[in-house]
Amino acid sequence: MTAFVTDVTLGAFLSADELAALRRPTGEAIGLPGRAYGEKFFELERGKLFPKSWCAVAFGTDIPEPGDAMPVDLAGWPLMVVRGQDRRVRAFHNICRHRAMRLIGKKCEALGVIACPWHSWTYDLEGRLIATPRIGGETKSSDSAFDTRGLDLKSVAVGEWHDLVFVNIDGKAPPLAKHMKPLDEMMANCDFSDLRKAPESFTLDYPGNWKVSVEGAIEDYHIPWGHPQLNKGAKRGGFALDFAPDCFYANSVVREYTAPQEADPANLQDPRLPRILSPDVSGKIRTLFLNVFPTGGIQSRENFILLGLMLPDGGARTLLRFNAYFKGAAATDPDLAAARQAATAAWRLVLEQDIDFVRAVHDNYQRRDSAGIEAHMAPFWESNVLEFQRNVVNLLDDRT
Ligand code: FES
Ligand SMILES: [Fe+2]
Repeated sequence: MTAFVTDVTLGAFLSADELAALRRPTGEAIGLPGRAYGEKFFELERGKLFPKSWCAVAFGTDIPEPGDAMPVDLAGWPLMVVRGQDRRVRAFHNICRHRAMRLIGKKCEALGVIACPWHSWTYDLEGRLIATPRIGGETKSSDSAFDTRGLDLKSVAVGEWHDLVFVNIDGKAPPLAKHMKPLDEMMANCDFSDLRKAPESFTLDYPGNWKVSVEGAIEDYHIPWGHPQLNKGAKRGGFALDFAPDCFYANSVVREYTAPQEADPANLQDPRLPRILSPDVSGKIRTLFLNVFPTGGIQSRENFILLGLMLPDGGARTLLRFNAYFKGAAATDPDLAAARQAATAAWRLVLEQDIDFVRAVHDNYQRRDSAGIEAHMAPFWESNVLEFQRNVVNLLDDRT
């Protein structure tokens, strides 16, 4: 695998002193400079960060049946995910082996083969080149002067964790199950069995760099001002930060549901929706929001979970997709649609409320370096934001 050709290096963005400042204890550390949130730095991430990592790019339920396929763009890498006749999900570069036409441009259902729209080179669902019509003349589908061996689709390592589909472009990451073990342990209080996707899902377009989106989502410091409704009907305590490098960056709270008559829908726990989180040792429910590094997101609640994608669209936009999952028949029962919609819409609102912050922060990050203004982190709330930034830098640093 050849990475994107880039002559950009981490040293062009961060001096040795800035790297050292990023690695100081949280209260003394200086966060990434604003120039780490621009297009040039994104080029470096595209070449060196995203190919090395297991990246969530799609949901298994996007392509539920054999022959279903979908193009996905991972930080400028054109890929596709395909469900084979054996029901396994595979991923390929969405680039024809002839003269590089994009093979599929939109979500497709029940494909028997993948046929290139340009000259009709045809691949089976496992990526094998199986036909080259007209290659040797009007009626000849072969040419003794042209060897088609070795021209199957370029595959990409793929793995599934619940409904999230991950790819690892350079194929060098450890097996996905091993990679996700810290997250499985972190989420031991969540019963994933028989979780089913509900019809309620949503997509949001964030006007900012993907790191602005992630960093804002994994800290609860801004909740009283950014999302004041989240304090209605629930008492939040036992705040905790947790992370495992490369794998996840989380914040969680112990939640007591109070005053249901005044509660925001985000804090209403409809008893008809089966519980999926078990209480901790103190008998309290701990809920969390986390980033599955770099492009996944999880929000857990007492009786449902949101799984999400936070996919960079260039260096200045991020596409968010969130699906909601409830237990068993509650996921699709029409009598529970209003309860599901209320819960899901409440979290969509929270993410919508962040859009203005993302836009304004992204804009200022393009300017703050020239004003000599640095980023500081509150140790109680934001040490995992700093850990996230250190992880980004470590993946980009050729010396580590
Ligand atoms: S580019 Fe695909 S068949 Fe020619
Ligand atoms: Fe927020």
